[in-house]
Amino acid sequence: MNKTEKYAEVAKEIAAVIENEPNLTARMATISSVLHHAFDHYLWTGFYLVDAEKRDELIIGPYQGTLGCLRIPFGKGVCGTAAATKETQIVDDVHAFPGHIPCDARSESEIVVPVFDDLGDLIAVFDVDSDRKAMFDDTDRQGLESILKALFSTP
Ligand code: SME
Repeated sequence: MNKTEKYAEVAKEIAAVIENEPNLTARMATISSVLHHAFDHYLWTGFYLVDAEKRDELIIGPYQGTLGCLRIPFGKGVCGTAAATKETQIVDDVHAFPGHIPCDARSESEIVVPVFDDLGDLIAVFDVDSDRKAMFDDTDRQGLESILKALFSTP
């Protein structure tokens, strides 16, 4: 099975689990867990949420992996850049990314996808790190962007 097919299969599995569950935390936890265990190149997988109190800061959300840092200001590191620009970031070598925040020292490459609610407002970013360089490409971006849209699709 190629990576595109694998993302399609994972999307179906996630949809089946969250189908009758509207709670956003439950949906985010499901997405993190199923994706994390589906792909060998995933080392750290999870959400940073736009903080309701400080709207220019991200706060840790549901994730799988070693301890993540709790807060990331908009504009800082890969997650903060995705939040500030509202654009997916694919980083082949995190050590070459200015301001990268090393939470898990094994992290070598990363993808961060902004997450919008159905009004188009940024509510979170979804961060995946790999322990190998250049592990994320446009197939990961498309697969993740499509799965993350399912967060708000009502049954
Ligand atoms: N690598 C991220 C920080 C978060 S963790 O890796 C969990 C970044 O620079 O945005």
